[in-house]
Amino acid sequence: MGRVFESVGVVGLGTMGAGIAEVIARSGITVVGVEIDDEGVSRARSHIEYSTSRALAKGKLEGADRDALLERIRYTTSLADLADVDLVIEAVPESPELKAEIVAELDTITRPDVILASNTSSLSVTELGVHTTRPDKVIGMHFFNPAPVLTLMEVVRTVVTDPQVVPDVEAFAERIGKTPVVTGDRAGFIANALLFGYLNHAVRMYEQRYATREDLDAAMRYGCGYPMGPLALLDLIGLDTAYEILESMYRQSRDRLHAPAPLLKQMISAGLLGRKSARGFYTYE
Ligand code: CAA
Repeated sequence: MGRVFESVGVVGLGTMGAGIAEVIARSGITVVGVEIDDEGVSRARSHIEYSTSRALAKGKLEGADRDALLERIRYTTSLADLADVDLVIEAVPESPELKAEIVAELDTITRPDVILASNTSSLSVTELGVHTTRPDKVIGMHFFNPAPVLTLMEVVRTVVTDPQVVPDVEAFAERIGKTPVVTGDRAGFIANALLFGYLNHAVRMYEQRYATREDLDAAMRYGCGYPMGPLALLDLIGLDTAYEILESMYRQSRDRLHAPAPLLKQMISAGLLGRKSARGFYTYE
């Protein structure tokens, strides 16, 4: 019989972390969400309240279920509050130093058998494990944005992951309504390795004035049935996040498909990060 996780810690409640906390709490599991300061906590709380209010309005959630979901999430600014959880998922920004520091601290706080999972999309899960005394219990759980809506979870096993940890994490994914796929630890895993060359190519086409942003996006929506075009999707992902993912894949593969389009860097320098800064390829209210 596999392990059942009844309480889960989520470290970092930005776009991804808040979405992950929402998904887990929706499945009846207690969540302890950790943010860096009170402002981060209040931003995360508003994010989850907004997201669940949309789910309510669209008939995806009943009022009583929404109240119960919100009550299952406890917010804190202290990692020490994760001492009793059964599983931790870190979703802090994609900085190798920051992630290393967090997993090392989690290693000292949590019970020795607790699985430490990372939502990283571009860093090596194997390297993260080195900063703990339990690399066999370190695994990737990669969610997709928006986490409450998209049902994929990439389960990233490393060469030292305990073989029993993988089915336990797959069962957890299914319990929270996700479809797990198992992948090895290489930049981009499966979905981003296929997706980001395409997104980067779209930026290059836009940069070369090949077509307008609207027409580039319309071509992929109406011609290929994608729910959104590549430039709108980059705005959703965040241009800074997309840049980090591309750079990491380029560093590993040296495939020029993944060499970030120069326009991406320029837009980031100008503060145009996509939806989160209200401006990217498009402007948002
Ligand atoms: N909980 C449950 N359901 C919710 C919800 C919530 N909090 N919020 C919204 N929904 C539901 C809605 O009810 C709606 O359901 P129906 O289609 O049955 O009506 C559905 O989710 C879509 O929601 P919206 O109506 O708000 O939005 P939309 O129809 O315009 O779709 C979208 C928006 C889901 C973002 C869609 O355009 C889409 O899937 N785009 C592609 C996103 C994508 O490719 N993401 C991957 C990015 S890469 C990544 O994430 C990896 C990485 O490492 C960066």
